[in-house]
Amino acid sequence: MIVLDRVTRVFNSRDGDQIVALRDVSLEIAANEFVTLVGPSGCGKSTLLRIVAGLALPTTGEAAIAGAPIREPRPETGIVFQAPTLLPWASVLDNVLFPLRMMHRMDSGSADKATALLKLVGLAGFEKKSPRELSGGMQQRVAICRALVHEPDILLMDEPFGALDALTREEMTLELLRIWSERPKTVLFVTHSITEAVMLADRVVVMSPRPGRVAEIVDVGAPRPRSFDNEADPAFHEATQRIRQLIFGQKHASSSRASS
Ligand SMILES: Nc1ncnc2c1ncn2[C@@H]1O[C@H](COP(=O)(O)OP(=O)(O)O)[C@@H](O)[C@H]1O
Ligand SMILES: [Mg+2]
Repeated sequence: MIVLDRVTRVFNSRDGDQIVALRDVSLEIAANEFVTLVGPSGCGKSTLLRIVAGLALPTTGEAAIAGAPIREPRPETGIVFQAPTLLPWASVLDNVLFPLRMMHRMDSGSADKATALLKLVGLAGFEKKSPRELSGGMQQRVAICRALVHEPDILLMDEPFGALDALTREEMTLELLRIWSERPKTVLFVTHSITEAVMLADRVVVMSPRPGRVAEIVDVGAPRPRSFDNEADPAFHEATQRIRQLIFGQKHASSSRASS
């Protein structure tokens, strides 16, 4: 479904230096696969996501969806950015409906559908509010509804739960898994949390520090459906330990299990 072939992305910094954000990243993501992306800050995770979203182009190499090079954003892709990006003048409901309006796909059931999504993320009754009246975490949940409303075949999420408190974050993780199992789609999900990465993914792509490369792709063998009770599951433990080793090095791995 998504194929990156030796994607390199170079930025020119303000003082004239060249920043290699991604170097020779090759990755294939199958249709309806759930892939998470972890790695240190600045290793190019957001850049990689923006390339798949059609919001940035590779400097060299090729990124394609279903065999077609990605040159611009495609309407069938849903995106959740790191910070919520709602239209401040539109109501919560109209923000969720925005992709359907853009795609001229509004119909008599659209408002009900958006309302149902808002209910799903705990925002029933907030339809007429302005984004200004919502906390950051609530705004992010609206942005997640907006990314889902047109039932995208590809869902790209850049640390979408970063602004949420720990409890809401676990709830949203499980909710996302439920949505994905009911309506399968190809998901590429960036996170800082190793636990979250393992809980969600079929495969975890671990990136190395800048210039960002794929250090290793870790298969998560744990069965589905999953819950946070499964964290003691050997397959979970094994995947988590391997990712820790890759990110922190061997010694640190065994001593830092508690801090995900
Ligand atoms: N538009 C840009 N102009 C210049 N440098 C950028 C730009 N976008 C990202 N970078 C640089 O590329 C590197 C990777 O950034 P990013 O993809 O945001 O990393 P991550 O999401 O993993 O933290 C960083 O060093 C960042 O400063
Ligand atoms: Mg980022």
